[in-house]
Amino acid sequence: MHPMLTRSDDYVEYCRETAKHARDPHDLSLRGRHLKNVTRLVHEQIAQEIGLSTADDLVDIGCGNGAMLKIAELAGVRSATGLLATEEEVTVLRGFGLNVRQGLADRLPVADASASAIVCNNVLLVVPRQKVQASLCEIHRVAKPGARIFLGEIPRAEQHDPTPTFASRRELLNYLYRKHGMRAWLGMVRRLAYQQLTGKPALVNSGTKISFWAAPEEFIPMLQAADLRLVRHWECWQYPTRSNYLVQKPE
Ligand SMILES: C[S@@+](CC[C@H](N)C(=O)[O-])C[C@H]1O[C@@H](n2cnc3c(N)ncnc32)[C@H](O)[C@@H]1O
Repeated sequence: MHPMLTRSDDYVEYCRETAKHARDPHDLSLRGRHLKNVTRLVHEQIAQEIGLSTADDLVDIGCGNGAMLKIAELAGVRSATGLLATEEEVTVLRGFGLNVRQGLADRLPVADASASAIVCNNVLLVVPRQKVQASLCEIHRVAKPGARIFLGEIPRAEQHDPTPTFASRRELLNYLYRKHGMRAWLGMVRRLAYQQLTGKPALVNSGTKISFWAAPEEFIPMLQAADLRLVRHWECWQYPTRSNYLVQKPE
């Protein structure tokens, strides 16, 4: 038996675990079930920002619940491909008929100069900081000359991680019950019991740690270093501490 609780901040593993227990595809947006409408609205606005048209080949990096892909299909785009961090997420969305495959931002499984519109919303903030510049270079590689690219929800400053560190299982369970209610509590009881039965260490991964943040003064030079041209940047309405960027690959 492992009495210790080990904390993990591996976001890809968090995505994998979420997909394994997903009851609704919206769980993969990792935005909370009550925010389904926000997810839809955010992606409708992104479609407008990038001026999505029937001539577009869209790639959505970290496509969450596939909201952007559905909007693109309704708009009659030439193609719409979604990328997800894990095969477990891919399996969930394929079950709903969406065109998705596994791929990480710094190694996109996409051909050179093949996307005319690229979306990467609420993703770079969970990419390990040392991989963000490589991810921007990958976005440049897969973009067609003139492609419009939306990079969204990038925190402008370091964010406080709201999840405390727990010294014991009891502390963790009390916190979950107080903060998220009986269902979250029961889910964790089951997970801890499974870990104990299988002899695995008790691992807690809340998925709340932000890996990457950058003020525009830092992020814009990173875009330039990847040969991406800034069109404009502005504050997110849903998270005022974060910024959205519309950029373009030069013709
Ligand atoms: C917070 S969700 C955002 C989903 C969607 N873009 C949205 O705005 O609703 C993060 C997404 O990023 C993906 N992801 C996690 N780590 C990634 C990485 N290193 N590279 C690319 N995608 C990643 C996950 O599969 C998930 O779809």
